[in-house]
Amino acid sequence: LPDLQPGPEPTIHTQEAFAPEDDFTAKWTRADARQLMRLSDPDAPSRENSMPAELTMPTVPQDFPDMSNGQVWVWDTWPLTDEDGNQYSVNGQEIIFSLVADRSLGFDDRHVFAKIGYFYRPAGIPAEERPENGGWTYGGLVFKEGVTGQIFPDQSYSHQTQWSGSARIFKGGEIKLFFTDVAFYRNPDGSNRKPYDPRIALSVGKVHANKEKVFFTGFDTVTSLLQADGTYYQTGEQNEFFNFRDPFTFEDPAHPGETYMVFEGNSAMARNEAQCNEADLGYREGDPHAETVEQVNASGAPFMIGNIGLAKAKNKELTEWEFLPPILSANCVTDQTERPQFVFKDGKSYLFTISHRSTFAAGLDGPEGVYGFVGDGIRSDFQPLNGGSGLALGNPTNLNFSGGEPFAPDFNQHPGHFQAYSHYVMPGGLVQSFIDTIGTHDNFVRGGTLGPTVKMDIGVGGDPTSTAVDYTYGDGGLGGWADIPANLNVNNGGKI
Ligand code: FRU
Ligand code: FRU
Ligand code: FRU
Ligand code: FRU
Repeated sequence: LPDLQPGPEPTIHTQEAFAPEDDFTAKWTRADARQLMRLSDPDAPSRENSMPAELTMPTVPQDFPDMSNGQVWVWDTWPLTDEDGNQYSVNGQEIIFSLVADRSLGFDDRHVFAKIGYFYRPAGIPAEERPENGGWTYGGLVFKEGVTGQIFPDQSYSHQTQWSGSARIFKGGEIKLFFTDVAFYRNPDGSNRKPYDPRIALSVGKVHANKEKVFFTGFDTVTSLLQADGTYYQTGEQNEFFNFRDPFTFEDPAHPGETYMVFEGNSAMARNEAQCNEADLGYREGDPHAETVEQVNASGAPFMIGNIGLAKAKNKELTEWEFLPPILSANCVTDQTERPQFVFKDGKSYLFTISHRSTFAAGLDGPEGVYGFVGDGIRSDFQPLNGGSGLALGNPTNLNFSGGEPFAPDFNQHPGHFQAYSHYVMPGGLVQSFIDTIGTHDNFVRGGTLGPTVKMDIGVGGDPTSTAVDYTYGDGGLGGWADIPANLNVNNGGKI
């Protein structure tokens, strides 16, 4: 990593593990997040990346192929996994789930029309031998019209959508699809008639796969599992813009036989009363670069209070869950800690999450991308990766200039500023993501398909807090487009 610019020292984190049930929440502090700006080159000129190459996804070219052959917009995507994050093919077919929307919509209008679709392709073919766009066949939507709306007591919703989640495969081809079932109650002008209602939900189906095709049966009922509680996780009453979504289930190696879930939440404070404290700031004693709690609270930063939640299954069917306290908070750091997931490696627990540049709190800045934290267990005093910054894999970004928006990039911004989002870390450190916008202010194209898979080395040089992009992977670090390979096959002596 480069020499650091002047700034505060990061918070000291021990990585010590606590019991999953304990009331200890690690803090991604402002002192930690300010390392992001310390890593940025203040002299990087217009349209160049100011962040270290090791932590930057290689620039994605603008002439990307479309995985759905023009059928749907595609963004957040997840594979079929077991409790350890292994990715499965079934009878020789790889299967992925994606949020999709009709291409007649503007790409930025997709969120309130999102539905879960699926794709499949033959397993075991090297990326370079596949069609350029990844060779997926679009299988259609997972749910029949009307199924996912039934769980909402108030049926007067204006929009009913399916947001991100994760899919677990079990014996006999049973699939438990965890997702975010969402009802919006909007006025014609887009404002809220009442707060939206996002719920972590489960639907169970069965996969059928042969050489010709993949289809599902089931997925005809939905069980509501969790709603934000207002104690650990902010509710719509506390903030109509609250975030509560993106379930990812797993088994903790330290607690075999139990199933846990991480998800995106916000700290449970009322929006107009939220305050951050000394521990959220995390400065070391006497740090000359420290801010005061008063300054931070007066700056608007307390509007940004993301957290990562933990829940534990109460039954084997995974239909009953209880909340545990959040494992990470980002109070006065960022408002969105999306699609959290765990990766277990060399005895360490790695917590990854995605965040946007625009959701960093006042006084902070960092690229769109994946952020990571390492500890000795699933509830730990997590150490943000890479010099305490937390950045694992960011888009090429120039922090000396504003970002603009995906539909209007800033004139001085690097063409890759919005190139990828919603990254998901896979076995072997492979990372997939979708393309949002590629190009400069005067020449950009919107994505709506998966980008090239890249590879991240985790634990570089034996240092568990260090990761780096592997530029020897694929073409200068860019692997196959939409490449989400299975590492196990269900009917091939695999683990299931
Ligand atoms: C019990 C436990 C604790 C330990 C933690 C690690 O649940 O084994 O003893 O601190 O879990 O995950
Ligand atoms: C906008 C929005 C954003 C959030 C996204 C969810 O419609 O609610 O606030 O980032 O959609 O994906
Ligand atoms: C990430 C995300 C998820 C959410 C989905 C909604 O791109 O904001 O958190 O489930 O998109 O479109
Ligand atoms: C903060 C905020 C957050 C919300 C986001 C939506 O200004 O309103 O509460 O998540 O912006 O864009």
